Amino acid sequence: MAGRIPKQFIDELVTRSDIVDVIDARVPLKKAGKDYKACCPFHEEKTPSFTVSVDKQFYHCFGCGAHGSAIGFLMDYDHMSFVEAVEELAARAGLTIPREAGAIFEKDKDTGADLIEIVREAARFYRSQLREHPQSGRAVEYLKGRGITGEIAHEFGLGFAPDGWDNLLQALGKDDNSREILARAGLAVKKDSGGYYDRFRDRIMFPIEDYRGRVVAFGGRILDKGEPKYLNSPETSLFHKGRELYGLYHAREAIKRENRVLVVEGYMDVVALAQFGVDFAVATLGTATTHDHLDRLFRHAPDVIFCFDGDRAGREAAWRALENALPVLREGRQVSFLFLPEGEDPDTLVRKEGREAFLARLKQAMPLPNYLFDNLSRQVDLGRLDGRARLVELARPLLSKMPQGVLRQMMLDRLAELSRMDPGKLPVLAGQQQAAGPPKSATRRAQGPQEPPSIVRRAIALLLQHPNLAHQLKDEVNLGDLDLPGIPLLSELCALLKNSPGLNTASIIENFRDSEHKHHLSKLAFWEYPSQVEDLEAEFIGVIGRLGETSAKQKTARLLQKQDAGGLNQAEKDELARLLSLKSEHSRLSPSRH
Ligand code: UTP
Ligand code: MN
Repeated sequence: MAGRIPKQFIDELVTRSDIVDVIDARVPLKKAGKDYKACCPFHEEKTPSFTVSVDKQFYHCFGCGAHGSAIGFLMDYDHMSFVEAVEELAARAGLTIPREAGAIFEKDKDTGADLIEIVREAARFYRSQLREHPQSGRAVEYLKGRGITGEIAHEFGLGFAPDGWDNLLQALGKDDNSREILARAGLAVKKDSGGYYDRFRDRIMFPIEDYRGRVVAFGGRILDKGEPKYLNSPETSLFHKGRELYGLYHAREAIKRENRVLVVEGYMDVVALAQFGVDFAVATLGTATTHDHLDRLFRHAPDVIFCFDGDRAGREAAWRALENALPVLREGRQVSFLFLPEGEDPDTLVRKEGREAFLARLKQAMPLPNYLFDNLSRQVDLGRLDGRARLVELARPLLSKMPQGVLRQMMLDRLAELSRMDPGKLPVLAGQQQAAGPPKSATRRAQGPQEPPSIVRRAIALLLQHPNLAHQLKDEVNLGDLDLPGIPLLSELCALLKNSPGLNTASIIENFRDSEHKHHLSKLAFWEYPSQVEDLEAEFIGVIGRLGETSAKQKTARLLQKQDAGGLNQAEKDELARLLSLKSEHSRLSPSRH
């Protein structure tokens, strides 16, 4: 993917797409008043509480709290990544995604359509060769020798790349253009001297599918001994190892059913497990598990179990997976680790022990928190005071990667326990400063929209639900000075609407996708404003006016305090005089002086 997608494009995309069309194509909607309703696709229910608003271009489930824009829906429902969801919406809207300069230059024609086509043809070719090629007997024998049935080979679309330099090129590379596409797809290699040769020769071919089941790459296993044992497609515009997982598309239904996903290391492991009915396994592609992988996995199931070899390489890989999992470990998500006996992998083990024994092992997988503390504790001497101090130092950078929340707090408590330290005295973690101590607005936030709304909350909700009200904002209202919970968010919102008039509720929230405020805003999007309010414009002007008064009141108090403490300069004196004269107009303002 070349370059970032500009924010303005996302704004335009979200304002131009119709969320009702997007959702209705997947979850049939019924009109209900101004909105649309359906039984929520994200939790079990009998009466519809899943609501899609046309005005806001946002959905919200009053049952389970699921919510989002059209982009968010595609991510959650179709398990797309952000970029994939944007691509899907752009394609529907007939828009071309502009890319900001900066990353790799991508040729216009490299949009992937021609690559997809040829990779699909190649997959068909390899499959046909497994049946038809004069030498296919060797390949079939190899697969049989490994215990793979014809049925499962068919299910996974396994194929055969015959020996020779140009079998695929002969079949698909009819002209210069198609040879060039084969090379861009990673299936042919261009020689320095000109001309091309097949990348995959004399190998069993495993097609790798993307999130919508399109073949985007291959892994090829050598039949005899030789190097490399597996050859994979190179990175192409379609294929990014750090993003794809082998078998994910194939396993998606099973993963949903099981509510968990098993991550193994090899192609053969996925295929063998599926043959034995353990059909919710996927494999990384010879790389470490990345954030992108975890993100994607957690969009399918809340429970991710990594299965590694018991050897040193396996333990190292597990630790890397642990480090990459920490930032995405929110409440409700679980990661566990299963280490296999030395010399075994899931393929050999499931063939030896069978399905039930293998599933029983899964139950024994070690939860990430245990693995983390076991591993660190083994590196220090907990019987010594300085050993326990070292434990704290080792755990600190890891725990600070975790998002704020109950899970992290519990892990901190566990650390305190192991190091026999008073939890209150544990050194503050990086990135935790703003949350040290209960945040002022925490209780307010936790109680949800039912409580009597604060004035700031009213202002935010009004702007969010009726972005046109931003026209009413005057420049002289300077809210930034106010010391109230929610003011930074309100200021940010006002600035956004000034710079980009015409945003709707969904596109506003998309602007906050990576912000800590996103969740809060999403809740307010469907917060019902007290029903007695009829004239929203007057209400908004009133709310902003009251914020202005509060701001003046706070400033007056600050200046009076400073005056008592012994000094105002001339400008401050003038300002105070101005504020006090205002105060006499607003009779109820009485700064609390003793
Ligand atoms: P393994 O070496 O564990 O092989 O590689 P395996 O999956 O057990 O294979 P078999 O059973 O001998 O056929 C695990 C994964 O690492 C990547 C592949 O994705 C493989 O599935 N790998 C391995 C490579 O990319 N290249 C290699 O040369 C070896
Ligand atoms: Mn193996």
